[in-house]
Parts: sequence; structure tokens; C-alpha cells
Amino acid sequence: MKIAVAGTGYVGLSLAVLLAQNHEVVALDLIKEKVDFLRAGKSPIHDNEIQDFLDNKPLNLTATLDKQFVNLLVEGAIKKDMPVLLPMRLKLKRFKVL
Ligand SMILES: NC(=O)c1ccc[n+]([C@@H]2O[C@H](COP(=O)([O-])OP(=O)(O)OC[C@H]3O[C@@H](n4cnc5c(N)ncnc54)[C@H](O)[C@@H]3O)[C@@H](O)[C@H]2O)c1
Repeated sequence: MKIAVAGTGYVGLSLAVLLAQNHEVVALDLIKEKVDFLRAGKSPIHDNEIQDFLDNKPLNLTATLDKQFVNLLVEGAIKKDMPVLLPMRLKLKRFKVL
């Protein structure tokens, strides 16, 4: 299943990392440094367990700054019932909230 998670803080990233063990997860954030960290395989928050997951588990996780990309993914995936986790208040055009 494709899943988008908005916000790579303590709530969003914990969910994203857990779900990315078994699903294709796209994590969205507004802060470039956080996305860059994730793209480099580093946790943008101080959490040893999340860093352990990033270091040692095979995760299907990508990070993006591009809300439009998430909108497109979601629009394209609505037929496929793609869930979007919204720990943050976020105005996506259309989404199904899990
Ligand atoms: N951490 C907790 O224990 C806890 C408990 C209950 C509720 N909450 C709520 O859950 C939410 C997330 O908490 P957290 O601890 O993960 O916060 P956090 O500050 O650690 O992370 C939030 C992340 O979301 C990003 N963000 C903000 N607006 C965004 C947007 N529009 N699109 C994409 N990314 C966006 C921020 O850049 C940040 O990286 C908050 O609303 C918080 O009040 C948190």
C-alpha cells in the first residue's frame, strides 16, 4: 500500500518508519533540512530507535518537500484507496485520512 505521512516530527516519523517496513511510504515536511536528513538516512529528530530503524531495517521510505507531489500521489491513488496520515493540519486537495 502507498502511504503519505505529513510531518516528520516525533509523531509522523515514528509512524512513517514503522509503516515503511511493509508499505511504500512518502514522508512530507516543510523543512528542507529535515527532508535532506532523511534522504541521507539520518533521523532529523533525536530518537535512537528511529535511527536504528533507518540504519538497520529495509525500509521503503522516501522524503519530500513537495506538497504538490503528495497531492498528485493522493489524487492518483484515491482509486487505490491510499491513506494519508495527517499528524499535522495540512490542506491537501483531496485525501483519505487513516
Ligand atoms: N509528540 C506527542 O507526544 C504528541 C502527542 C499528542 C499530540 N501531538 C500532536 O501531533 C502533532 C505532531 O507532533 P510532533 O511531536 O510530531 O511535532 P514535531 O514538531 O516534532 O513535528 C512536526 C513536523 O511537522 C512538520 N510540519 C508542520 N506543518 C506541516 C505541514 N503543513 N506539512 C508538512 N509538514 C509540516 C514540521 O516541520 C515538523 O517537522 C502536533 O500537532 C502535536 O501537537 C503530539
